[in-house]
Amino acid sequence: MAQLWGGRFTKETDKLVYNFNASISFDQKFYKEDINGSMAHVKMLGKVGILTEQEVEAILKTLQEILEEVESGKLEITDEYEDIHSFVEANLIDRLGDTGKKLHTGRSRNDQVALDMRLYTRNQVQEMDAELKKLLETILSIMKENTDTIMPGFTHLQKAQPITLAHHMGAYFEMFKRDRLRLHDIYERMNYCPLGSGALAGTTYPLDRDYTAELLGFYGPTLNSMDGVSDRDYLIEFLSALSTVMMHLSRFSEEVIIWNSNEYQFVEIDDAYSTGSSIMPQKKNPDIAELVRGKTGRVYGALMSILTTMKGIPLAYNKDMQEDKELSFDAMDTAKGCVALFNGMLATMRFNKDRMEKSASHGFTNATDAADYLVKHGVPFRDAHGIVGQIVLYCIDKGIAIDDMSLEELKAISPVFEEDIYDAISMETCVNTRCTIGAPSKASMEKVIAVCESYLAEN
Ligand code: ARG
Repeated sequence: MAQLWGGRFTKETDKLVYNFNASISFDQKFYKEDINGSMAHVKMLGKVGILTEQEVEAILKTLQEILEEVESGKLEITDEYEDIHSFVEANLIDRLGDTGKKLHTGRSRNDQVALDMRLYTRNQVQEMDAELKKLLETILSIMKENTDTIMPGFTHLQKAQPITLAHHMGAYFEMFKRDRLRLHDIYERMNYCPLGSGALAGTTYPLDRDYTAELLGFYGPTLNSMDGVSDRDYLIEFLSALSTVMMHLSRFSEEVIIWNSNEYQFVEIDDAYSTGSSIMPQKKNPDIAELVRGKTGRVYGALMSILTTMKGIPLAYNKDMQEDKELSFDAMDTAKGCVALFNGMLATMRFNKDRMEKSASHGFTNATDAADYLVKHGVPFRDAHGIVGQIVLYCIDKGIAIDDMSLEELKAISPVFEEDIYDAISMETCVNTRCTIGAPSKASMEKVIAVCESYLAEN
């Protein structure tokens, strides 16, 4: 057991207590952030004259060695240390003796861990953003190829009105774009450096907090040391943003699962992204989409956990806050992995355009347009609605689409119909006359696609 704080104790820590208290098994994940933070701290101590140039150089060189040895596997992080901070400091002292003991001057593990977690999370925000960008690129390429691919749009999972695949994909483009915007917002708010907050009340050393903040790529130092050590809002915001990403992915997964079902067959998931059954040889299951949908709960769980952990903590640092790590790390890995896998699945998925179009044209998705036709010829909308209702009933009875009715049959229900009804209710007309911005017509989609393209080029 290597501890940093044995001085005032007369007894060894109970072994169970030691294990319960230790965080090395999970906070080793940010060894790099811990070492980088220490390097910035040491440079600053040198700049303000607390450490000599030689001391700074020796510590930096040794920290770099420790970093390289951990990365190459030469130096193993073991549970003989309480946490990653103790591991780094103990190894430094082993190698440098008294000089190493100066590293922790003007610093507490409270501001150290606040810094490490923030650095780690900041990096994760950027990695997630990059994964989302790749997903948006895939979605946009499907949009570009499918402005003419007609499919049914649904409400209540009932066929409603015809749309295009480009339009459907465009809805997800908007969702994941907002997810990225949320990440950018969070980054802006979180990018302030808590190092120098000390245990809770700053320190008596003349630390240059602007300098450490700058060295670590922050906009500046946090402005209250109590808040600096005990703020985990940024983590809550990030987990909330990840939960929203997962919610979007889960909805998308649900659609892929439906589209891939035997009944729909709108899509075929690539063999590389599907799995089989151990008993039923015919099966090709959408397991990736199901797992993404399933893992959503896990990410929500991490958000609920940290919210609950934080709600009763008096200022400033309390050990409860160590619980900010395990589930958060899991949620970050899970969400990032899900976006990457979903992207791979989507990029290789085949769209069965014929099935989609047939499904749209055989589901009365043009009933609204038939009613609108009557309205344009002077029939009040409520009456038109009733007339088309009768038509639909007639078609259901005969097992045909509205387009399959002869003009005589249509006229028997309403004499207003003329030959041009067929063109007015063709799938192409239904889609392409919906040409306000945001609607599925090819013309509006092309405008939106141009906006999406320039967004991705700039962001
Ligand atoms: N392992 C601790 C954490 O994750 C580090 C901070 C410890 N500070 C303390 N005063 N015990 O929060």
